[in-house]
Amino acid sequence: MTADRIDAAWADPKLANVIYHDWEASTYDHKWSISYDDRCIDYARDIFDEAVGGEPFETVESALEVGGGTGFFLLNLMQSGVAKRGTITDISAGMVAQAVHNGQALGLDVTGNVADVEFMPFDDGQFDLVVGHAFLHHIPDVDVALREIIRILKPGGRFVICGEPTRKGDFVARRLSHATWWAARRVATLPGVPSSWARSPEELEQSSREAALEAIVDLHTFDPDRLAAACMRAGAVDVRTATQELTAAWFGWPVRTFEAAVRPGALGWGWASFAYRTWQRLNALDRVVLSRVVPADVFYNVSVTGVRP
Ligand SMILES: C[S@@+](CC[C@H](N)C(=O)[O-])C[C@H]1O[C@@H](n2cnc3c(N)ncnc32)[C@H](O)[C@@H]1O
Repeated sequence: MTADRIDAAWADPKLANVIYHDWEASTYDHKWSISYDDRCIDYARDIFDEAVGGEPFETVESALEVGGGTGFFLLNLMQSGVAKRGTITDISAGMVAQAVHNGQALGLDVTGNVADVEFMPFDDGQFDLVVGHAFLHHIPDVDVALREIIRILKPGGRFVICGEPTRKGDFVARRLSHATWWAARRVATLPGVPSSWARSPEELEQSSREAALEAIVDLHTFDPDRLAAACMRAGAVDVRTATQELTAAWFGWPVRTFEAAVRPGALGWGWASFAYRTWQRLNALDRVVLSRVVPADVFYNVSVTGVRP
């Protein structure tokens, strides 16, 4: 990627999103420990079911994902039986190509479209279900995006958006991540650190140029009540929100940042298994115990769902 194009992206959040996510596309699944097996199928289905309030959800014919990245959410939801046909859209061509590749490898009926959620290239009322995960905080005009999502739904169709950062949750997670990245960079320069383990300072410096764009691709955090109000303003009914992950996010963010700072594969299976089991335990603590006593807007993730009347 040329330095000029990266410089231009500092004044253009959409170009920044394209560059940042094209850059991430081929390593994205590894960075975020995304898989297409029971672990992520269950995770995706659990947050979907929690968003829709635990009501049984009958398989629909056609679902579309906005800001779908490599397909983590829709591909795993399709494997859990949510939809028969899927369309994955994203503003990054690199992400769409990776999502279609992943879908085909799983034998799913999936197509991909490079599309900006603010200008969806679809007729009104085409889809039974629109889903999204961790994308809305990148969109300059959230109200326009929500109107587009509702416009392309059939009457009675539902949207389910999960994994968006809450204002308070993000404040804490971001500081923990920055501290971890700072520490990992310092450790990489210490004498005696095995070269097979740490990325070189040059490698870290180079990825830092694109990684720095994170400061402009992350545009919003959400207050759950305001997010629900925005969905209603956009025309949705039966809107509800839910929040997840408190201590799990405090653990997960630094772990993912640390993993990104070392050579891929250097930490091995033992580390991956420790990190996942710890995250699972903390997530259970958050759901079963802390959700009863801690205010909902302090949790890291917010989900929102609603229906086109
Ligand atoms: C954090 S990633 C999440 C990807 C995927 N949904 C997941 O959960 O793994 C956010 C995605 O939103 C996409 N995106 C950003 N701005 C967009 C826009 N205006 N329209 C459509 N997609 C966009 C990015 O390219 C990126 O793939």
